[in-house]
Amino acid sequence: MIVTDPDLAVDVLAHGRLCAIPTETVYGLAANAVDESAIAAVFEAKGRPLHHPLIVHMASVDEASLWVTSLPDWALDLARNVWPGPLTLVGPRTPRALDSVTGNQDTVAIRVPAHPLTLQVLEKLSQRNIFGVVAPSANRFGHVSPTTAHHVEEDLGHYLSVHGGIILDGGPSRIGVESTIVLATGSHPVVLRPGGITRKMINNITGLEIREPESAPRVSGTLESHYAPDAHVILLSATDEIPDHVAGFIAFQEIATPSQSVRLSSPTTIDEFASDLYAALRQADHDGLEQVYVVLPHDDGLAEAVRDRLTRAAHE
Ligand code: TXA
Ligand code: MG
Repeated sequence: MIVTDPDLAVDVLAHGRLCAIPTETVYGLAANAVDESAIAAVFEAKGRPLHHPLIVHMASVDEASLWVTSLPDWALDLARNVWPGPLTLVGPRTPRALDSVTGNQDTVAIRVPAHPLTLQVLEKLSQRNIFGVVAPSANRFGHVSPTTAHHVEEDLGHYLSVHGGIILDGGPSRIGVESTIVLATGSHPVVLRPGGITRKMINNITGLEIREPESAPRVSGTLESHYAPDAHVILLSATDEIPDHVAGFIAFQEIATPSQSVRLSSPTTIDEFASDLYAALRQADHDGLEQVYVVLPHDDGLAEAVRDRLTRAAHE
């Protein structure tokens, strides 16, 4: 069931059921973050491997100390500047963070999402002493993340309707790719997943150089194959020749549509590229296309997150 009243979402979540929530990045599948059976339902609904950790979504930065024992000054600065916004911080967990949330690691991921409806839900839950919801992207595991309530319905509508869950419709997600995940356990920021907050923004706010991860982190969004439609995604650079047969095509507007291709998206800016991307990949499947050609955006900034997701979508 798709609803627009945040109070319905509050009730459903407070009763241990699932509610898909809109965020500025993508829609999340929310459950009370301290309710083991609700968390188990999240894994079941998504078909997600059990050891993959979840992000706790909170109403404000003031709730961070409930979930992480400490954050370095640079991370607090970053949080205060960016939240509510597309940033996830990974810090040392408090006992409130369950093993099922952290994937048995000694860290937990937290964020304050920037969507007015969802912030209302989180604030009202706090008033009922529920200080956070887990919310992985509201798609079947490995599939393209949802940026509309309708996308959530396609992937999880059946499960939710059978189990008393609902979808809170907050319109299309503004950013369209997932949050930037930053490891905040050391002297310098480490980017585990690029996203809506760019390296440059992190560097400007903290004044610190960004370090690379030391070992492969447990981030399912960094699996080589992820974010994938059924159609086969083929990546091109602007100078590559585009084959002449029926396929989907995604590129900046200035790049002409090859003959026979089905244009799925014609963004004029990198922000539009990101916000249209997942809907365009889903459209390819609706149109029954077997292949989608994508001319990758270059540059740094948000283009890095777009290339990251497309590279995983293209991986066999
Ligand atoms: O924008 C987003 O972050 C969206 C919206 C709904 O907020 N959520 C999202 O959740 O992308 P999900 O579960 O699809 O991806 C979260 C990533 C996962 O890849 C998970 O492995 C990683 O966060 N993660 C969670 N806890 C972690 C931890 N303690 N250490 C490292 N990675 C962690
Ligand atoms: Mg995901």
